[in-house]
Amino acid sequence: MTDPYYILSCEIMEDLVLQAVSALKKLDSKDFRVLNAIERGMARYEIVPVQQIAKLAGLNLNETNIRLSKLHKLGLIWRSIGPYVGYVLKVVGYDCLALNALSKANIVEAIGRKLGVGKEADVYDALSPSGERIALKFHRLGRTSFRQTRRYRVYIGERRHISWLYQSRLAAEKEYEALNLLYPKVHVPTPIGHNRHVVVTSYIPGVPLYEIKELDDPEALLKSIIEDIRTAYNIGVIHGDLSEYNVIVDIETSEYVIIDWPQWVSTAHPSAELLLKRDIRNVLNFFRRRFNIRLDFDSVYSYVKSSKIKIEEQDK
Ligand SMILES: Nc1ncnc2c1ncn2[C@@H]1O[C@H](COP(=O)(O)OP(=O)(O)O)[C@@H](O)[C@H]1O
Ligand SMILES: [Mg+2]
Repeated sequence: MTDPYYILSCEIMEDLVLQAVSALKKLDSKDFRVLNAIERGMARYEIVPVQQIAKLAGLNLNETNIRLSKLHKLGLIWRSIGPYVGYVLKVVGYDCLALNALSKANIVEAIGRKLGVGKEADVYDALSPSGERIALKFHRLGRTSFRQTRRYRVYIGERRHISWLYQSRLAAEKEYEALNLLYPKVHVPTPIGHNRHVVVTSYIPGVPLYEIKELDDPEALLKSIIEDIRTAYNIGVIHGDLSEYNVIVDIETSEYVIIDWPQWVSTAHPSAELLLKRDIRNVLNFFRRRFNIRLDFDSVYSYVKSSKIKIEEQDK
């Protein structure tokens, strides 16, 4: 039970955000100082020693230990009793830190139900302080690899903890950067805020494109998505995972939004062309299979790139 990988793989089955929300209500500012101290300590230590936590939190050892027991009981941190007693954050603890910061920044007021579980994220319905419906995307990188790498845990040790934390934060930052570059020129969710591994955007009503069997004007949708790919390309952004799974369509209004941007690459990236082609191919294939609309790949590809050439020529 003291194996962090065991605990983390159990966490996969449970609703982590729900746990974080209920824990949040029980935490005071000193608890957060200790949680924060562990987070900062993890940049240097695989397992953060208690003395170091106390130092970083600016609390005495006794007070620190009281807080650590509380955080441990709430399931926010993992305790190691190896060569020395130390702690690391668990995913729920990291969620608490992000949710607390987003609440302090007046970005998030309340969390609702889970909207979707993707490959590498959990998305939740939420409310802003002004009552606006928003979406919270918790990036969860490295979680599937826990199972795969459990056999090797002895060798990699607790390093995986730093890496899930770091990778998840990086993915969130990257996705938020893309949204800010693209909004409002491309149909993307409105970027509202981010903290650590969490990205906050507008709530998008509708269903993923792959669930849609009938549309009033599928050709108009396809052409608009191609326009988006082109505009994004001009801005310097290639989605990199574009497919019918990452387009949400509201059948009532025919509005749509392209979601899920953390893996985007810049047009200067060595794999840019490959990924651009794959994105276009995915979209064209889907519309051909589902709606029998046939657009020529080469024409679409050169159309997407055409304005880029013009802009570059203008720059000269
Ligand atoms: N802004 C949003 N509003 C409503 N639902 C969303 C929003 N963003 C994501 N979702 C839901 O969450 C699912 C996973 O989100 P996505 O960004 O695609 O992450 P992943 O990388 O895990 O696929 C989506 O398929 C969708 O159902
Ligand atoms: Mg997705």
